[in-house]
Amino acid sequence: MDVIRIEGGHRVTGEVTVEGAKNSALKLMAATILAPGVNTLTNVPNIADVHVMGKVLKRLGAKIDVVDVHTLRIDTSTVESWVTPYELVAQMRASTAVLGPLLGRFGKATVAMPGGCNIGARKIDMHILGLQALGVDFDLDHGDINATTPHGLSGTTVTLDFASVGATENLMMAAVRAKGTTVIDNAAREPEIVDLANLLNEMGASVKGAGSPVIEIEGVAELHPVTHEVVGDRIEAGTFIATAGLVGEPVEVKGFDPAHLGLVLRKYEQMGISIERRERGVLAWREGPIGSVDIQTLPFPGFPTDMQAQTMCLLALGSASCVVTENVFENRFMFASELQRMGAEIRIEGHHAIVHGVPRFSGAQVKSPDLRGGAALVMAGLVADGITVVSDIYHIDRGYERFVEKLQGLGARVERASVPDSADL
Ligand code: EPZ
Repeated sequence: MDVIRIEGGHRVTGEVTVEGAKNSALKLMAATILAPGVNTLTNVPNIADVHVMGKVLKRLGAKIDVVDVHTLRIDTSTVESWVTPYELVAQMRASTAVLGPLLGRFGKATVAMPGGCNIGARKIDMHILGLQALGVDFDLDHGDINATTPHGLSGTTVTLDFASVGATENLMMAAVRAKGTTVIDNAAREPEIVDLANLLNEMGASVKGAGSPVIEIEGVAELHPVTHEVVGDRIEAGTFIATAGLVGEPVEVKGFDPAHLGLVLRKYEQMGISIERRERGVLAWREGPIGSVDIQTLPFPGFPTDMQAQTMCLLALGSASCVVTENVFENRFMFASELQRMGAEIRIEGHHAIVHGVPRFSGAQVKSPDLRGGAALVMAGLVADGITVVSDIYHIDRGYERFVEKLQGLGARVERASVPDSADL
């Protein structure tokens, strides 16, 4: 079993460049189904989830050339299937992002119903309700969602109950091929939504208002293949900025737009972390103690849930007391339980975590509960007394490219190691 082993207390400083955003790249890959021909995506992160999405597209008939480790050439002219099997959806729930493009291209799709995951039920009822409004009929048969459009896709106004990222994306990717105008109200506003809208418009679509709560889409008859650069990963960047805040030393984080982390950077400044914003990155460091701020996760431009664990790690060290409220997922505090093994004092009350800072963490064996919690446990290990061993690191590999190498590049004593599966971790 692979683990990440960290020896705490070493100086961590320097510069790191982040990759393209996982939470954009996966949807841009799915969107290439809408534009038959050779699409080239650059700045694609070399991570496990991208490899799974590649398998999904190949299963549908696409041909994929890995031009270099961060450039994919995806030929979807050969896509002739609209069935995405359970074993791929079970590996990665984001495979459901092919639903909208398959409906847009073929007017039908069969996608396995995704199960839940560690952080929550992850339902797709809003995807289904919105697509039904566009004229899609669904039936659930033995765990598969069969979607058809007996009368084609027709534009209409869809108001989302919640600004769901995935539902907004699936609706966008179906609506670009619907007859007439679609308005998505209460749409998600994440930078990854804007990146997807840019790709679709480059393909010949007409998508207006992405990044605002109201997105208006005029359906078009066809879309053509493009070359597109994936937007920088604001969450990978935020993870390294949180690391700088934790260790206190200056870290320059490059390859992303600081405007995509607006509230996070402002909250970190309130916590006493210095942030120098630059064109495509920031320099972050800390001189004084970590101050106390309360955090409420919300859809963009609110505080991102994907930065909750990394920020709780910061708040758990020092003398601050604060409340972290998780409003987006129903079960995203498992990281806190693991951090308590390292000496943190955190009390969970429903979707609130009451955090009392402690002077230091102590190294321990901990399990990565999910992608971001795993990264945050590695962060904690950097400043803990002694050795920390993080297991279940496949979660981290899903969304962080060369995480260990990047930390080593900053001077951290961290390594990937293999231990016998029977080890009592
Ligand atoms: C995307 O997930 C991201 N994943 C998540 O990142 C991120 O945390 C989330 O957006 C919020 O920003 C990808 O882009 C691959 P939602 P998604 O639809 O689209 C509920 C990471 O760490 N909901 O905005 O699934 C849902 O259960 C991952 O990189 C419904 O109830 O997020 C959740 O509680 C984790 N019904 C909330 O809404 C629906 O139909 C937000 O979900 C859809 C969602």
